[in-house]
This record gives sequence, C-alpha cells and structure tokens, in this order.
Amino acid sequence: MSSQAIVASKTPHAVDVEAGKDYYWCSCGRSKAQPFCDGSHQGTTFTPQKYTAAESKTVYFCGCKQSASSPLCDGAHKQL
Ligand code: FES
Ligand code: FES
Repeated sequence: MSSQAIVASKTPHAVDVEAGKDYYWCSCGRSKAQPFCDGSHQGTTFTPQKYTAAESKTVYFCGCKQSASSPLCDGAHKQL
C-alpha cells in the first residue's frame, strides 16, 4: 500500500470551472487525467478530493500534490 503522493507536475493546472459543478482532484498523483482522479489511486491510501465550484472562473489546481491548500495550488511547487 503506497502512502506517498507522486509529483505529477511541478506547475498548477488552470481549469475553467463552472458554478455548482463538482470536480474530483487527484491527490495521489497517479492519474493520467491530471489534475483529476481517474481511479488510479486504487491500492494506495489516497482518495480524490471533491471540489465544488462556487462560481464560474479559472482556478489553479495543484499538480505537485504538495499544496497545503489542496486541491488548489498554494505555491508549494516552487520548493520542489
Ligand atoms: Fe489520484 Fe484518484 S487517481 S486520487
Ligand atoms: Fe502544487 Fe502549486 S502545483 S502547490
């Protein structure tokens, strides 16, 4: 069972989210459909993190999986 998040990308993913829509952010870094979960976390301790868009706008989902403000980027990728 793996409990280490993989650094999928060292930069955030800009996504135009729609108000009221749910998004499932990949917390494990294993998804091939970054920044979202594709089920590849199976067999790890990770589960996707649900994000509900409060408004329609561009948000920056964390790609490195080290953000303290997940699922959004907090700049932690700059330390990698
Ligand atoms: Fe990473 Fe589901 S594939 S959390
Ligand atoms: Fe992870 Fe910025 S991409 S903190």
